[in-house]
Amino acid sequence: MLQQLLDIATEAALAGGAVLQAYAGKVNIREKGRLGDLVTEADQASESAILSVIQRHFPDHKILAEESGMQGAESEYLWAIDPLDGTTNYAHQYPFYASSVGLLIQGKPSVGVIFDPTRQELFRAATGLGATLNRQPIQVSTAAALRQSLLVTGFAYDRHSTPDNNYAEFCHFSHLTQGVRRGGAAALDLAYVACGRLDGFWERGLSPWDMAAGAVLVAEAGGRVTAYDQSEFAIDSGRILASNGLLHESISRELLRVQPLPPACLPEAAAQ
Ligand code: IPD
Ligand code: CA
Ligand code: CA
Repeated sequence: MLQQLLDIATEAALAGGAVLQAYAGKVNIREKGRLGDLVTEADQASESAILSVIQRHFPDHKILAEESGMQGAESEYLWAIDPLDGTTNYAHQYPFYASSVGLLIQGKPSVGVIFDPTRQELFRAATGLGATLNRQPIQVSTAAALRQSLLVTGFAYDRHSTPDNNYAEFCHFSHLTQGVRRGGAAALDLAYVACGRLDGFWERGLSPWDMAAGAVLVAEAGGRVTAYDQSEFAIDSGRILASNGLLHESISRELLRVQPLPPACLPEAAAQ
Protein backbone atom coordinates (compact mmCIF):
# COMPACT_ATOMS: atom_id res chain seq x y z
CA MET A 1 0.00 0.00 0.00
CA LEU A 2 2.77 2.48 0.93
CA GLN A 3 4.48 1.76 -2.38
CA GLN A 4 1.28 2.56 -4.24
CA LEU A 5 0.82 5.77 -2.26
CA LEU A 6 4.43 6.71 -3.05
CA ASP A 7 3.90 6.06 -6.74
CA ILE A 8 0.77 8.21 -6.88
CA ALA A 9 2.50 10.97 -4.91
CA THR A 10 5.27 10.79 -7.50
CA GLU A 11 2.83 11.05 -10.40
CA ALA A 12 1.24 14.06 -8.72
CA ALA A 13 4.50 15.87 -7.94
CA LEU A 14 5.76 15.30 -11.50
CA ALA A 15 2.48 16.63 -12.92
CA GLY A 16 2.79 19.76 -10.76
CA GLY A 17 6.42 20.26 -11.71
CA ALA A 18 5.62 19.99 -15.42
CA VAL A 19 3.07 22.77 -15.04
CA LEU A 20 5.63 24.94 -13.23
CA GLN A 21 8.09 24.59 -16.09
CA ALA A 22 5.41 25.30 -18.69
CA TYR A 23 4.57 28.59 -16.93
CA ALA A 24 8.13 29.56 -15.96
CA GLY A 25 8.96 33.15 -16.87
CA LYS A 26 5.45 33.84 -18.18
CA VAL A 27 3.37 34.35 -15.05
CA ASN A 28 1.39 37.20 -13.57
CA ILE A 29 2.34 37.75 -9.96
CA ARG A 30 0.19 39.19 -7.20
CA GLU A 31 0.57 39.62 -3.45
CA LYS A 32 -1.70 37.46 -1.29
CA GLY A 33 -2.00 40.12 1.41
CA ARG A 34 1.19 40.27 3.43
CA LEU A 35 4.24 42.03 2.00
CA GLY A 36 6.22 39.56 -0.10
CA ASP A 37 3.66 36.72 0.06
CA LEU A 38 3.19 36.08 -3.64
CA VAL A 39 0.96 33.86 -5.71
CA THR A 40 1.04 33.22 -9.45
CA GLU A 41 -1.20 31.38 -11.92
CA ALA A 42 1.44 28.66 -11.78
CA ASP A 43 0.74 27.98 -8.10
CA GLN A 44 -2.92 27.45 -8.92
CA ALA A 45 -2.39 25.45 -12.12
CA SER A 46 0.17 23.19 -10.48
CA GLU A 47 -2.21 22.61 -7.56
CA SER A 48 -5.04 21.63 -9.94
CA ALA A 49 -2.77 19.14 -11.71
CA ILE A 50 -1.66 17.60 -8.40
CA LEU A 51 -5.18 17.44 -6.97
CA SER A 52 -6.58 15.78 -10.06
CA VAL A 53 -4.06 12.92 -9.73
CA ILE A 54 -4.67 12.43 -5.99
CA GLN A 55 -8.46 12.67 -6.25
CA ARG A 56 -8.62 10.30 -9.19
CA HIS A 57 -6.80 7.59 -7.25
CA PHE A 58 -7.96 8.33 -3.71
CA PRO A 59 -11.36 10.07 -3.75
CA ASP A 60 -11.90 9.27 -0.03
CA HIS A 61 -8.71 10.88 1.24
CA LYS A 62 -8.63 14.29 2.89
CA ILE A 63 -6.47 16.99 1.28
CA LEU A 64 -4.84 20.12 2.62
CA ALA A 65 -3.47 22.16 -0.27
CA GLU A 66 -1.91 25.60 0.05
CA GLU A 67 -4.08 27.44 -2.47
CA SER A 68 -7.43 25.68 -1.97
CA GLY A 69 -7.31 24.76 1.70
CA MET A 70 -8.81 21.68 3.34
CA GLN A 71 -11.20 19.41 1.49
CA GLY A 72 -12.68 15.94 1.85
CA ALA A 73 -14.40 14.00 4.60
CA GLU A 74 -12.64 12.73 7.73
CA SER A 75 -9.99 10.17 6.81
CA GLU A 76 -6.83 8.75 8.34
CA TYR A 77 -5.07 9.85 5.14
CA LEU A 78 -4.29 13.55 4.83
CA TRP A 79 -2.36 14.84 1.82
CA ALA A 80 -0.39 18.04 2.45
CA ILE A 81 0.40 19.73 -0.85
CA ASP A 82 2.55 22.68 -1.76
CA PRO A 83 2.09 23.11 -5.53
CA LEU A 84 4.97 25.59 -5.75
CA ASP A 85 7.38 25.86 -2.86
CA GLY A 86 9.63 28.83 -3.50
CA THR A 87 7.15 31.16 -5.15
CA THR A 88 9.31 34.23 -4.58
CA ASN A 89 12.24 32.51 -6.30
CA TYR A 90 9.95 31.40 -9.13
CA ALA A 91 8.52 34.88 -9.62
CA HIS A 92 12.05 36.24 -10.00
CA GLN A 93 13.19 33.38 -12.26
CA TYR A 94 15.63 32.28 -9.58
CA PRO A 95 15.70 28.54 -10.27
CA PHE A 96 15.20 27.07 -6.80
CA TYR A 97 11.64 25.89 -6.36
CA ALA A 98 9.70 22.63 -6.33
CA SER A 99 6.37 20.89 -6.10
CA SER A 100 5.90 19.05 -2.81
CA VAL A 101 3.45 16.24 -2.08
CA GLY A 102 3.32 14.79 1.42
CA LEU A 103 0.97 12.28 3.00
CA LEU A 104 0.19 12.02 6.70
CA ILE A 105 -1.27 8.72 7.86
CA GLN A 106 -3.00 9.02 11.23
CA GLY A 107 -1.22 12.34 11.61
CA LYS A 108 2.27 10.98 10.93
CA PRO A 109 4.27 12.12 7.87
CA SER A 110 4.58 8.84 5.95
CA VAL A 111 5.10 9.58 2.25
CA GLY A 112 6.97 12.48 0.69
CA VAL A 113 7.82 13.45 -2.88
CA ILE A 114 9.53 16.69 -3.84
CA PHE A 115 10.27 17.49 -7.49
CA ASP A 116 12.68 20.19 -8.62
CA PRO A 117 11.73 20.64 -12.28
CA THR A 118 14.68 22.92 -13.08
CA ARG A 119 17.24 20.25 -12.27
CA GLN A 120 14.85 17.35 -12.93
CA GLU A 121 15.58 16.08 -9.44
CA LEU A 122 12.95 13.80 -7.94
CA PHE A 123 13.21 13.17 -4.19
CA ARG A 124 11.05 10.34 -2.85
CA ALA A 125 10.56 8.62 0.48
CA ALA A 126 8.07 6.56 2.43
CA THR A 127 8.30 5.23 5.95
CA GLY A 128 10.33 2.04 5.95
CA LEU A 129 11.07 2.22 2.21
CA GLY A 130 14.08 4.56 2.35
CA ALA A 131 14.77 7.81 0.53
CA THR A 132 15.93 8.27 -3.04
CA LEU A 133 17.02 10.98 -5.47
CA ASN A 134 16.22 10.06 -9.07
CA ARG A 135 15.66 6.48 -7.83
CA GLN A 136 19.14 6.19 -6.23
CA PRO A 137 19.31 5.79 -2.43
CA ILE A 138 20.33 8.90 -0.50
CA GLN A 139 21.67 9.48 2.99
CA VAL A 140 22.24 12.45 5.23
CA SER A 141 25.75 13.87 5.65
CA THR A 142 28.36 12.79 8.18
CA ALA A 143 29.34 16.25 9.50
CA ALA A 144 29.60 15.87 13.26
CA ALA A 145 30.59 19.36 14.41
CA LEU A 146 28.93 22.71 13.77
CA ARG A 147 32.23 24.17 12.54
CA GLN A 148 32.18 21.59 9.71
CA SER A 149 28.59 22.24 8.79
CA LEU A 150 26.55 24.10 6.19
CA LEU A 151 23.06 24.86 7.48
CA VAL A 152 19.96 26.34 5.90
CA THR A 153 17.00 28.30 7.20
CA GLY A 154 14.30 30.68 6.03
CA PHE A 155 12.25 33.68 7.08
CA ALA A 156 8.47 33.50 7.21
CA TYR A 157 6.22 36.11 5.61
CA ASP A 158 5.36 37.59 9.04
CA ARG A 159 9.02 38.58 9.55
CA HIS A 160 8.09 42.23 8.96
CA SER A 161 5.72 42.28 11.90
CA THR A 162 7.20 40.04 14.58
CA PRO A 163 10.36 40.22 16.65
CA ASP A 164 10.38 36.38 16.45
CA ASN A 165 11.68 36.69 12.91
CA ASN A 166 14.64 34.26 12.98
CA TYR A 167 17.20 37.01 12.32
CA ALA A 168 18.97 36.45 15.66
CA GLU A 169 19.19 32.72 15.01
CA PHE A 170 20.59 33.38 11.53
CA CYS A 171 23.37 35.59 12.96
CA HIS A 172 24.10 33.13 15.76
CA PHE A 173 24.64 30.16 13.45
CA SER A 174 26.52 32.24 10.89
CA HIS A 175 29.25 32.60 13.52
CA LEU A 176 29.35 28.93 14.49
CA THR A 177 29.28 27.17 11.11
CA GLN A 178 30.81 27.29 7.63
CA GLY A 179 27.70 29.11 6.52
CA VAL A 180 23.94 29.42 6.67
CA ARG A 181 22.00 29.43 3.42
CA ARG A 182 18.54 30.88 2.81
CA GLY A 183 17.29 28.71 -0.01
CA GLY A 184 13.79 30.17 -0.26
CA ALA A 185 12.06 26.82 -0.63
CA ALA A 186 11.62 24.92 2.62
CA ALA A 187 10.72 21.64 0.92
CA LEU A 188 13.91 21.68 -1.14
CA ASP A 189 15.92 22.75 1.92
CA LEU A 190 14.71 19.57 3.62
CA ALA A 191 15.40 17.47 0.51
CA TYR A 192 18.96 18.85 0.47
CA VAL A 193 19.44 17.81 4.11
CA ALA A 194 18.17 14.35 3.17
CA CYS A 195 20.73 13.94 0.38
CA GLY A 196 23.63 15.36 2.40
CA ARG A 197 24.18 18.63 0.51
CA LEU A 198 23.24 20.48 3.66
CA ASP A 199 23.71 19.31 7.25
CA GLY A 200 20.75 20.86 9.04
CA PHE A 201 17.66 23.05 8.67
CA TRP A 202 15.53 24.98 11.10
CA GLU A 203 12.67 27.39 10.50
CA ARG A 204 9.62 28.87 12.21
CA GLY A 205 6.34 30.08 10.72
CA LEU A 206 6.00 27.17 8.31
CA SER A 207 2.80 25.41 7.24
CA PRO A 208 2.14 21.66 7.10
CA TRP A 209 2.51 21.63 3.30
CA ASP A 210 6.02 23.12 3.59
CA MET A 211 7.24 20.33 5.87
CA ALA A 212 5.22 17.12 5.37
CA ALA A 213 7.11 15.63 2.44
CA GLY A 214 10.54 16.85 3.51
CA ALA A 215 10.15 15.47 7.02
CA VAL A 216 9.71 11.96 5.63
CA LEU A 217 12.72 12.39 3.34
CA VAL A 218 15.07 13.45 6.15
CA ALA A 219 13.91 10.69 8.50
CA GLU A 220 14.18 8.01 5.82
CA ALA A 221 17.63 9.24 4.79
CA GLY A 222 18.87 8.60 8.33
CA GLY A 223 18.42 12.07 9.80
CA ARG A 224 16.35 13.43 12.66
CA VAL A 225 13.27 15.66 12.62
CA THR A 226 12.01 17.23 15.85
CA ALA A 227 10.84 20.43 17.45
CA TYR A 228 13.57 22.96 18.33
CA ASP A 229 13.88 21.44 21.82
CA GLN A 230 14.14 17.89 20.41
CA SER A 231 10.64 17.01 21.51
CA GLU A 232 8.43 15.23 18.98
CA PHE A 233 7.90 17.04 15.70
CA ALA A 234 4.36 18.43 15.33
CA ILE A 235 3.21 19.26 11.79
CA ASP A 236 0.94 22.08 13.05
CA SER A 237 3.58 23.73 15.22
CA GLY A 238 5.08 25.79 12.39
CA ARG A 239 8.57 24.91 13.63
CA ILE A 240 10.99 22.25 12.54
CA LEU A 241 14.53 21.19 13.28
CA ALA A 242 15.87 18.66 10.79
CA SER A 243 19.45 17.46 10.65
CA ASN A 244 21.80 14.64 9.82
CA GLY A 245 21.26 13.43 13.40
CA LEU A 246 24.90 13.91 14.43
CA LEU A 247 24.42 17.68 14.70
CA HIS A 248 20.96 17.57 16.16
CA GLU A 249 21.82 18.14 19.82
CA SER A 250 24.23 20.96 19.00
CA ILE A 251 21.77 22.79 16.77
CA SER A 252 18.99 22.36 19.31
CA ARG A 253 21.19 23.58 22.18
CA GLU A 254 22.25 26.67 20.22
CA LEU A 255 18.68 27.43 19.07
CA LEU A 256 17.56 27.47 22.68
CA ARG A 257 20.47 29.75 23.66
CA VAL A 258 19.88 32.46 21.05
CA GLN A 259 19.31 35.89 22.51
CA PRO A 260 16.92 38.28 20.74
CA LEU A 261 18.55 41.01 18.66
CA PRO A 262 18.71 44.47 20.23
CA PRO A 263 15.56 46.58 19.67
CA ALA A 264 17.31 48.67 17.01
CA CYS A 265 17.32 45.57 14.78
CA LEU A 266 13.64 44.84 15.19
CA PRO A 267 11.26 45.46 12.29
CA GLU A 268 9.62 48.55 13.82
CA ALA A 269 12.97 50.31 14.07
CA ALA A 270 14.04 49.18 10.62
CA ALA A 271 10.88 50.64 9.09
CA GLN A 272 11.50 54.14 10.54
C1 IPD B 1 7.87 29.55 1.51
C2 IPD B 1 9.23 28.96 1.27
C3 IPD B 1 10.30 29.71 2.05
C4 IPD B 1 9.97 29.79 3.52
C5 IPD B 1 8.58 30.37 3.73
C6 IPD B 1 7.56 29.54 2.97
P1 IPD B 1 6.12 29.37 -0.54
O1 IPD B 1 6.88 28.82 0.81
O2 IPD B 1 9.26 27.60 1.66
O3 IPD B 1 11.55 29.10 1.94
O4 IPD B 1 10.94 30.57 4.16
O5 IPD B 1 8.31 30.37 5.10
O6 IPD B 1 6.28 30.05 3.20
O7 IPD B 1 5.31 30.54 -0.11
O8 IPD B 1 7.18 29.72 -1.53
O9 IPD B 1 5.29 28.19 -0.90
CA1 CA C 1 5.86 26.65 0.76
CA1 CA D 1 3.60 27.51 -2.14
